Amino acid sequence: MELTLRKRVLSWLTDNVSPSRLEHILGVEQMCIELARYHQVNEQQAAMAGLMHDLAKFFPPSRLLQMARAEGITIDSICATHPHLLHAEVGAIVARDEFGVNDKNVLAAIANHTLGSPGMSRLSCIVFVADALEPNRGNTPELVAMRQVARENLYKSVRQICEYSLRYLINNCKVIHPRTILTRNWALAIANQDKSKVTGHTSPRSEFEGQPLTNRAEQVA
Ligand SMILES: [Fe+2]
Ligand SMILES: [Fe+2]
Repeated sequence: MELTLRKRVLSWLTDNVSPSRLEHILGVEQMCIELARYHQVNEQQAAMAGLMHDLAKFFPPSRLLQMARAEGITIDSICATHPHLLHAEVGAIVARDEFGVNDKNVLAAIANHTLGSPGMSRLSCIVFVADALEPNRGNTPELVAMRQVARENLYKSVRQICEYSLRYLINNCKVIHPRTILTRNWALAIANQDKSKVTGHTSPRSEFEGQPLTNRAEQVA
């Protein structure tokens, strides 16, 4: 990423998100770069998506709904009552319109960071995983173990994070967006398929693979 663009994004973020959110964003950017190296994904794209993933985090619900509607994004009943879930997709709109990002893979990774998406790219997986596991999330034994999995197996990591989110949502009586479940099932199938390559067993490809769906849970967004 050009240094001037990064500076411009940082200056915008300073005016539009809290200091603690900015710390989180910088942690995600760093972890995206680290995971991109481990998984041979383009580091520039990973850094850009990480830095811009939460641009719309502090937009009020009315603005999120209005921008999503104007873009023609389908607003389902859960997003209508929990507009915060739209901050990922609206963040991609801000990246495009405010910062001229036109790399579709980067924009999709921003849009997928909260709920994931069955069939999402490895770049999207990296941003999804980094958002949940960046260093500011803490250092509990569970998180430390999950970071190790993220370095070793990206799809297993996506599955773990979906399950981590689902447990949190259930334990705290919060609504679950079905895309989190679809993403979890897709990642489960892909991770098993990777395993079968090693063991020689076969498993069917995910029925969701390649479908343009998205999604994740709000506590790790
Ligand atoms: Fe987020
Ligand atoms: Fe985030």
